[in-house]
Amino acid sequence: MKRLGNKIAFITGGAGGIGMACAERFIAEGAKVIVADLFGDAARKAADRLGPEALGLGVDIGDEASVREGMAAAIRHFGRIDILFNNAALTNPASMNLDTDVVNVPMDIWNNTLHVNLTGTMLCCRHAIPHMAENGGGTILNTASGAGLAADVTRVAYGVSKAGMIALTKYVATHHGHQGIRANAICPGPVITPLSLDIGGDMMPLVKRQTPLGKLGAPKDIAALATFLVADESEYINGEIITIDGGTMAHHAHVPDMQDYLKSKAAT
Ligand SMILES: NC(=O)c1ccc[n+]([C@@H]2O[C@H](COP(=O)([O-])OP(=O)(O)OC[C@H]3O[C@@H](n4cnc5c(N)ncnc54)[C@H](O)[C@@H]3O)[C@@H](O)[C@H]2O)c1
Repeated sequence: MKRLGNKIAFITGGAGGIGMACAERFIAEGAKVIVADLFGDAARKAADRLGPEALGLGVDIGDEASVREGMAAAIRHFGRIDILFNNAALTNPASMNLDTDVVNVPMDIWNNTLHVNLTGTMLCCRHAIPHMAENGGGTILNTASGAGLAADVTRVAYGVSKAGMIALTKYVATHHGHQGIRANAICPGPVITPLSLDIGGDMMPLVKRQTPLGKLGAPKDIAALATFLVADESEYINGEIITIDGGTMAHHAHVPDMQDYLKSKAAT
């Protein structure tokens, strides 16, 4: 039996970089997937590429009716949902570039970011959990971010929305574990996707310098962790927040500068 054999996974934002890599991996591991994305055409195109094990749906996670309809369509097509992977986020560069600090972020950007990332994730949980409970259980995985664990140079609304997702994960794990539903979150550091290259490609060498493994993450790294966390082999992991960033968050902020200093001292 494959690791995700007989599992049906609903992946939000599945038409994008990390979501798409996870959809591919989940299918390779035996799952059937619903690619649910704000852009229905992109979701259907992605599903066509993935083959008959995939269904593409236009779903806006920030709109409760759309979430309800998307999940109902997924259940009509595949019979049930075992895995909810909340991967979607408001990532368009026009919005992210205006998401600066509390003094300057426009209120519509703040509200919309929190609404899509945090409320949207909550709405997907709200509509998946009763269905999972009826079927004897399920697994929820939320994509938060290192930006939800420590402050970044910019994007306060994004970071706060991701911190909210971390708390949401613990509440869902606590309230619904007894129904056989577990919830975990992953906190990726910078991952090389078209999005991250678009909004911060020129800053990648700076991030790399802070990463003990000396390289940035790839979508396949996230897909490997996500596969483990939604598979039955991790069935006793619930309410955990797992960082995947090559060790960036493992050290004090001064370490790379201190290492350079010690190297230069040793050379003299
Ligand atoms: N790429 C990184 O460096 C990085 C780092 C940490 C966390 N993350 C997180 O990983 C996840 C995937 O990011 P990515 O890099 O693949 O970005 P991406 O932009 O390629 O993917 C995000 C997807 O979400 C979809 N989406 C946006 N709003 C939506 C809505 N209202 N309803 C449904 N779908 C919607 C987009 O259309 C897109 O396909 C996001 O949650 C992001 O915050 C990414």
